[in-house]
Amino acid sequence: MSTPYTTNNAGVPAESDEHSLTVGPDGPILLQDHYLIEKMAQFNRERVPERVVHAKGSGAYGSFEVTNDVSQFTKADLFQPGRRTEMLARFSTVAGEQGSPDSWRDPRGFALKFYTEQGNYDLVGNNTPVFFVRDPQKFQDFIRSQKRRADNGMRDNDMQWDFWTLSPETAHMVTWLMGDRGIPKDFRHMNGYGSHTFMWVNGAGQRFWIKYHFITDQGIDFLTQADADALAGEDPDAFRRDLFETIKRGEHPSWTLKVQVMPFEDAAGYRFNPFDLTKVWPHGDYPLIEVGRMTLDRNPEDFFVHIEQAAFEPSNMVPGIGPSPDKMLIGRLFSYPDTHRYRIGPNYAQLPPNRPHSPVYSYAKDGPMRYEPSRTAAVYAPNSYGGPAADTERFGEPAGWASAGEMVREAYAPHREDDDWGQAGTQVRQVLDDAARARLVTNVSGHLLKGVSAPVLERALQYWRSIDKEVGDRISAAVTSG
Ligand code: NDP
Ligand code: HEM
Repeated sequence: MSTPYTTNNAGVPAESDEHSLTVGPDGPILLQDHYLIEKMAQFNRERVPERVVHAKGSGAYGSFEVTNDVSQFTKADLFQPGRRTEMLARFSTVAGEQGSPDSWRDPRGFALKFYTEQGNYDLVGNNTPVFFVRDPQKFQDFIRSQKRRADNGMRDNDMQWDFWTLSPETAHMVTWLMGDRGIPKDFRHMNGYGSHTFMWVNGAGQRFWIKYHFITDQGIDFLTQADADALAGEDPDAFRRDLFETIKRGEHPSWTLKVQVMPFEDAAGYRFNPFDLTKVWPHGDYPLIEVGRMTLDRNPEDFFVHIEQAAFEPSNMVPGIGPSPDKMLIGRLFSYPDTHRYRIGPNYAQLPPNRPHSPVYSYAKDGPMRYEPSRTAAVYAPNSYGGPAADTERFGEPAGWASAGEMVREAYAPHREDDDWGQAGTQVRQVLDDAARARLVTNVSGHLLKGVSAPVLERALQYWRSIDKEVGDRISAAVTSG
């Protein structure tokens, strides 16, 4: 195939790729060089704002295949026996900016978009089954403490530990973050979790509480702090490179989806508040049930179009799936479509990675950059001219729960075994082996030795003793001798 000739954005052949139009070789540039002007103007507008969190990420397309019949728990189209659904995944770090190293210690985002026959289902999780805070009121403060200071524009360990130690509900997630799983080897060797509790509804209208676990078929692997520090300098894009090149070679990473299912009525009396995002449901209480396998097999052909403009939103739920009383989840239902309207524009849902594969019959209209024509002439509902009408008989039953009470600003009503330290302590004592515990002590003490002020350090040592006395004492000894 011969090389195509350059054109401007309107398809008109360009006269030169290299020389501006001037009056004589040394003369001034002419305003009629509209191609030069177009190049400069377009360049000035190349960026959209980066995501306010999870700015650095990588992704690929693939599919999700059901391998086990869970139709007794949900009527969701994508989880029905025999179904195979096209999907997009984007993995990310949280606090760093677009150019930041992939190997920084941080949770990893695990955002999935399933193009189901009943619209897009987005599951926007992390590689952690829990989170730092349990109320959306604290999310913005938490994120600021992990990003950069106002005065010098630098990240600051003092700020991180100040927030964490003043917010003891962070203990479980911080234990996770400071352990081996806080720096996975790459995006392929980590699990993904829906983290929140969601609702599933079956064909008979029965409701269940659900937690999603995407278990990596590549096996869990991690980087030590020293390896990660070296990699940050050698190849800041190491995780992106790994994902892209592995798929390009024809090796297709996969994850097995399993769910924990809690009968609807169990929630009130369960020993932990099942909607508190800082807690897991121990496997012994609610075992994992296999659902299917997600396989990534197609790289984006254009990173900006497919990954930078991908817009995931926890509010994209399909019939058979709903939210739960988790306050964080409910906060997120608002936040994501709002940020997409700002970051990409109000018609972001029409872009290739976001466009549903099922028909859209929405009454949304016009706005910047809209290009899909309306499917009907009617612009209002109800109408007598054949415009879409909601099928309330089929879809009118919301996935919900009964709720009543005075308006309050209070923490969740505690359940029998709710406290901020217990599950973190279980992880340190029962899940980590000796070597992993030793690495935890090294990681925490190394972090605390970098710029943490005396009063915050004192609180941090107390925080670790509350998680586990012995590990707290070992961290204290390492900090004192360090
Ligand atoms: P289990 O012994 O049944 O499960 C422990 C789980 O911990 C493992 O299945 C594995 O989950 C995960 N795990 C293994 N190594 C590490 C590590 N180095 N860092 C973090 N997690 C690791 O116990 P329980 O279900 O009773 O949970 C005990 C504790 O395990 C919890 O308090 C929680 O901290 C942690 N945990 C629990 C999970 C759950 O959903 N129940 C999920 C993950 C961690 P996986 O197979 O998902 O990798
Ligand atoms: C990204 C808000 C909690 C996972 C984002 C973005 C915002 C946001 C505004 C940027 C989205 C974009 O520009 O495309 C919030 C708020 C939270 C919250 C307000 C709490 C109230 C969480 C939790 C998880 C999570 C608990 C995981 C369980 C993600 C992921 C992304 C993201 C994976 C990146 C999505 C992508 O790849 O495009 N969040 N978030 N967030 N968030 Fe959250």
